Amino acid sequence: MAARAAITIFLLILLPAHHALATAASDAHPGYADAETDTCGPALDLGAAGRRYGPGLEEYGGGRIVDITHAYRPGMPPDAAAGPLVRLKESMENGSDYNLSELRMHCHMGTHVDAPGHMNQAHFAAGLDVDTLDLDVLNGPALLVDVPRHTNITAEAMESLNIPKGVRRVLFRTLNTDRGLMWKAAGDMSYVGFTEDGAQWLVDNTDIKLVGIDYISVASFDHLITAHVAFFKNADIIPVEALKLDNINTGLYMLHCLPLRLVGSEGSPIRCILIK
Ligand SMILES: *[C@@H]1O[C@H](CO)[C@@H](O)[C@H](O)[C@H]1NC(C)=O
Ligand SMILES: *[C@@H]1O[C@H](CO)[C@@H](O)[C@H](O)[C@H]1NC(C)=O
Ligand SMILES: *[C@@H]1O[C@H](CO)[C@@H](O)[C@H](O)[C@H]1NC(C)=O
Repeated sequence: MAARAAITIFLLILLPAHHALATAASDAHPGYADAETDTCGPALDLGAAGRRYGPGLEEYGGGRIVDITHAYRPGMPPDAAAGPLVRLKESMENGSDYNLSELRMHCHMGTHVDAPGHMNQAHFAAGLDVDTLDLDVLNGPALLVDVPRHTNITAEAMESLNIPKGVRRVLFRTLNTDRGLMWKAAGDMSYVGFTEDGAQWLVDNTDIKLVGIDYISVASFDHLITAHVAFFKNADIIPVEALKLDNINTGLYMLHCLPLRLVGSEGSPIRCILIK
């Protein structure tokens, strides 16, 4: 199990080799090549069923419910080289009585949650896996805020946001959304995230227990380990990463997030929605 955590960190650290990943992705998934070459704005992916995935609002119930989860699809960050996530294991086309797919992905791909054991060995050893995450933290009122675009989430940036005491869940929308990073297949390590002092400031000065962010890590790449370590120290803060926050007004919503009950895993895909 420790090896699994090590592999996850290893993958994160390998990400600067994004040119290699992009090339591999183009070879493996020629249909997704456009997602990498579009530099003018977010690209639209064409899913296997021909459905278009893009930054538009995905609403249900006449706008009452907004999906803030990215569709899990091949060629998405951080592991664009990963093969098809879902593939037919048995197919009627090939003589089976039924179609049956299998799912294959690493647990920190697309919209996902980190458990305290992700970067804290004591918490991992104590069994603080995704199945122990507090559903009360993952479900309740949440504030969507815009982080000033010129900065990572430093202590100074946190202070400038003036998030009132008592607020327990905050979704931080950043330059990552403007840059459409989740719509590009290659991992981009210049993404915005928390610096170590920003994470520590949040721990020391706010009541925030759910930290939502719009790219694959709550921690900026230069503070990848240190900012995570600051968040995980007390095992009471839950980072939810790679949320789809495009085109949603800032403000207060009801947030509902449900991870899979993956016993022993330090991460899980998570479905998150906002209710107005
Ligand atoms: C089963 O999978 C095949 C591809 O092998 C597809 O053509 C067919 O539409 C699928 N059938 C159902 C019932 O989903
Ligand atoms: C059906 O079998 C062929 C030959 O083994 C294989 O190439 C193809 O991928 C299979 N298709 C599905 C949908 O399982
Ligand atoms: C945020 O930090 C990363 C390095 O971790 C850097 O590449 C990026 O330019 C920074 N972004 C801003 C807006 O300061």
